[in-house]
Amino acid sequence: MRSLADQTLDELGGRLSVLSRQKSDHIELDRLLRELEAAGTRWEEDRTLQRIYRLVFPHAFAEETVLWPVIRRVLADGQALTLEVEQEHQEVNELVRSLEDEKDPSPDRATRIARLAAVLREDVRDEEDELLPRLQDRLSRRQLRALGVAWEAVRRVSPTRAHPVVARRPPGNALSSLPLSVVDRLRDGADVLARHDVAPHLVEPAQRRLHQVGRRIERTVPFRRGEDPSTSAEG
Ligand SMILES: [Fe+2]
Ligand SMILES: [Fe+2]
Repeated sequence: MRSLADQTLDELGGRLSVLSRQKSDHIELDRLLRELEAAGTRWEEDRTLQRIYRLVFPHAFAEETVLWPVIRRVLADGQALTLEVEQEHQEVNELVRSLEDEKDPSPDRATRIARLAAVLREDVRDEEDELLPRLQDRLSRRQLRALGVAWEAVRRVSPTRAHPVVARRPPGNALSSLPLSVVDRLRDGADVLARHDVAPHLVEPAQRRLHQVGRRIERTVPFRRGEDPSTSAEG
């Protein structure tokens, strides 16, 4: 069983395969994490963090709704393997939520950012070295490509922000995906307008309202169904 890191595009099943799509996102994440560590100002750090969030949240949400259920079906120890990465995803969601919620920069901000980078790197290693090669063992190239197309389609419409309260597993996360994605993408648009100081008297109330709507959606009971207690926000 070889790590995805050591395989060529052809060995991964070609450009459409879920394995090569995963690997190229992971390479981009590694670049962003190095950019984050080199950030000289708070402004640069925040800008890179936003880019990391927009990359990792849809990526992970689509893993949780599309890929891990397949792994649970085809591998005897799929439950335990996927739970471990879901716990990493949950920690990422909670760390980012805590960074977003802080009013003033807290003294342990640097520690939380360092922990975030460490968990993201750990998640990539678990997926590239263990989880995805195990999946590769069980699926044909054609199946890897079909899964790649499905994962990509879901990734494109998945939430772009941290959501620690919804389930990390179906059915809760699959049901919550669309409403959360709509609110997240509206918030992303409002944030861009705010950064450019466009109509602050309209944009700021809209940002506050969307923030409240997002939190309310997260707490909707059906969206918490399927959760393992170890990945629950209260767990
Ligand atoms: Fe991944
Ligand atoms: Fe992941």
